[in-house]
Amino acid sequence: MSAYQTDRPATWQCCAECGNELLETDPAVRCPACQGLLEVRHRRPELEAGILRTLWPTRCCTRPDTVASGVWRFQEVVMPTAGDDDIVSHPEGNTPILIREALSAWAGVPELGFKHEGHNPTGSFKDRGMTVAVTQARRIGASAVACASTGNTAASLAAYAAQAGIPAVVLIPSGQVASGKLAQAVAYGARVLQVAGDFDDCLRVAEELGQRHGVYLVNSINPYRIEGQKTIVLEMLQQLDWDPPEWIVVPAGNLGNTAAFGKALEEALEWGLIDRLPRVVAVQADGAAPFARSFATGFATRERVVADTVATAIRIGDPASWDRAVRTIRATNGLVRSVSDAAILEAKVRIDAAGVGCEPASAATLAAIRMLAAEGVIAKEDRVVAILTGHVLKDPGAILEYHLERSPKPAGANRPRKIAADAGAVARYLKL
Ligand code: F0G
Repeated sequence: MSAYQTDRPATWQCCAECGNELLETDPAVRCPACQGLLEVRHRRPELEAGILRTLWPTRCCTRPDTVASGVWRFQEVVMPTAGDDDIVSHPEGNTPILIREALSAWAGVPELGFKHEGHNPTGSFKDRGMTVAVTQARRIGASAVACASTGNTAASLAAYAAQAGIPAVVLIPSGQVASGKLAQAVAYGARVLQVAGDFDDCLRVAEELGQRHGVYLVNSINPYRIEGQKTIVLEMLQQLDWDPPEWIVVPAGNLGNTAAFGKALEEALEWGLIDRLPRVVAVQADGAAPFARSFATGFATRERVVADTVATAIRIGDPASWDRAVRTIRATNGLVRSVSDAAILEAKVRIDAAGVGCEPASAATLAAIRMLAAEGVIAKEDRVVAILTGHVLKDPGAILEYHLERSPKPAGANRPRKIAADAGAVARYLKL
């Protein structure tokens, strides 16, 4: 640790564009000087890497309170200064890495694991970022919190704001949010605004609301969301005994997760928790692929598109965490790819039928892994972890459309059948 660093507070904020530094508790979500995105910076943890690696697992599932959370277990590198009374935790995290031979075989990658973030309390990875952002909202005394969302952030914010007793406003693109997510936001009691526009419009309005009207914005441009989402990677590394896989594959929309993964990995390397970096693959849908298009030209230009895909969670044309995500891809020698809606649905049907289940955006990972394995980019002996970002029940509409309504009937469709309340009829139908 340099002498320079010891003079610093444990945590501060820094503009990624101009280097302007802000206090940890400054409520600005963008740099007041240049409007750049802010980053949370931590002093190197006081405990050595070896001690942290031993300490963190002992907190896991040991007590029914926040310390057992898959986010707050890692508090030393997430928000070291939060007191127990500040923390708004469900708890969250502690998600499994699932291995299913049928899926490994289909992908052509024997050592494939699925870290299932759909096992979080509101059914998506957003809870990891939201527990930290709502904790920060409480610490700075925010009178209201807001987000723009394709659905999962809205559901998560609604739940955590209800727990914290802070009023929440969520802006969602009208008619473009999966029913499970809309139902959650309504049920948890947020003010739900269905905006006549797409996600990119919602984010623009939400940002203005934050800047002009003092509502605390908790989209993933909020640097505290990123701190929470880092724990997807930290928990995965812990589960793999700090032996990183060759590849981490994640669906990409607004690019918050892609950004968080790079930050987690760079810090883990710098602080001695790991000794090499996995390659991060960010996966978009063909109809919402500005980041993949830009990657193909070496990130020469920032692209924007009007987005359209069956994977509504990642239906985003102008991702906010662009620069941070470019940094992740460069730092990890990563890749950005896009896959078609048909490939996403095909992969989803496989994941669902393996008893794992996920929402469409999450299945983009498996579609991309299969493609990269076929291309020989991912080698047979490589270890790969795919992030399943959301639960199968998030988007019942996509399931019912595919299995019940689609014409012609897809090969994988599992159509229920109406039948008389009669055992004989059932037996005859089943040919028993
Ligand atoms: N997967 C799911 C299920 C999501 O809900 C999202 C984003 C992503 C992947 C992409 O993550 O934005 O960090 O690149 N959903 C946001 C929302 C935009 O509002 O719920 P990202």
